[in-house]
Amino acid sequence: MMVSDVEATTTAPALDIDALRRDFPILQRRIHGKPLVYFDNAATSQKPQVVIDCLDNYYKHYNSNIHRGVHTLSQEATAAYEGARHKIQHFLNAKSPKEIVFVRGTTEAINLVANSYGRTNIGQDDEIILSEMEHHANIVPWQLLCEQTGAKLKIIPINDQGELLLDKYAELFTPKTKLVAIVHVSNALGTINPIQSMVKIAHQHGVPVLVDGAQATPHMKVDVQALDCDFYTLSSHKMYGPTGVGALYVRQSILEDMPPYQGGGEMIQWVTFEKTTFNEIPFRFEAGTMPIADAIAFGTAIDYLQSIGLDRISQREQALLHYAEQQAADFPGLRIIGTAQHKASILSFLLDSIHAHDVGTILDNEGIAIRTGHHCAMPVMQHFHVPATARASFSFYNTFAEIDQLFEALHKVREVFAR
Ligand code: ALA
Repeated sequence: MMVSDVEATTTAPALDIDALRRDFPILQRRIHGKPLVYFDNAATSQKPQVVIDCLDNYYKHYNSNIHRGVHTLSQEATAAYEGARHKIQHFLNAKSPKEIVFVRGTTEAINLVANSYGRTNIGQDDEIILSEMEHHANIVPWQLLCEQTGAKLKIIPINDQGELLLDKYAELFTPKTKLVAIVHVSNALGTINPIQSMVKIAHQHGVPVLVDGAQATPHMKVDVQALDCDFYTLSSHKMYGPTGVGALYVRQSILEDMPPYQGGGEMIQWVTFEKTTFNEIPFRFEAGTMPIADAIAFGTAIDYLQSIGLDRISQREQALLHYAEQQAADFPGLRIIGTAQHKASILSFLLDSIHAHDVGTILDNEGIAIRTGHHCAMPVMQHFHVPATARASFSFYNTFAEIDQLFEALHKVREVFAR
């Protein structure tokens, strides 16, 4: 039943998967004596040698603080850091590098928007629209804001395929609606949401839209101008870059009016004990010493992704997903959670009544890494009346043979529980 890795990517020039896999040193590891099969890419992706080398090179050759040194090392680090900002700008097709704020990741990006934009523009009895499939990172910051301001959350429901009910979405808008905050790709279900049409509906009501793009940017081309969204968030570590850094895109006209989120060095223009004036955008939002090396290596990860091509990555991952879904459909006792028509390469599932953690532990013994649990999306689990799922999430560097190994190992899981 195995598909060749070349056959499955015929319409674009085939990716040389063996060569790409050699870019990732960790893929050579053995776990419990077996070759690592890494299917936890939605939690974090592995890092190619170029990203590891970029970090190493930074610390060996030009480690220094940015924007505040006249010396050569500082100028080199500043140029590389700002160069990474430009790479993210072009990656997202943002109009200006001023629209790109470095943050720790998507969670911090959303907290920044909630605390800065939210506290300024959202008040008592105002309404924020979220969906039932949000990650906790796109729920809790808004709940905290609601507690502080007296605003309310309104929730777009999902169907049993894990798709948003768009007619219900349209009905949620009232004159009190101040923001829509919606995930682009669900980490728990894989659903790809129709962001462009959702933004259009929100803008017809004069409401801005924040898109949590953490699970989208590793898998597909994202164009913030085409989406016409107002805020877009991404995390480097899901995109083959380092942990500890990410980016927030904000439409320039909105960002210009946003007050600072955190105070400290770098984000100021002038400080006296009587009054402080603030730096221009985006620096006003980057207080203190930023994760400089990680931001630069995030830029390298973007170069790496683009050298492969997001279209080819998408095509490859869709082929892997369909192959896994075909096997899952025939697999005894397996139920897929998340069967939307448009999905990224995420397969969440239940196996008989075996707890997901037991599935994950037995798979680990076979060298296969998946995630188990509620995936920081408890409302999704509540919708499907399950405490947890097992989740295999595929990257372009995974192979069809590895998917065969997954299903062979799932047979072993059933055998263990049949005893
Ligand atoms: N949000 C990440 C995941 O889905 C950690 O696994």
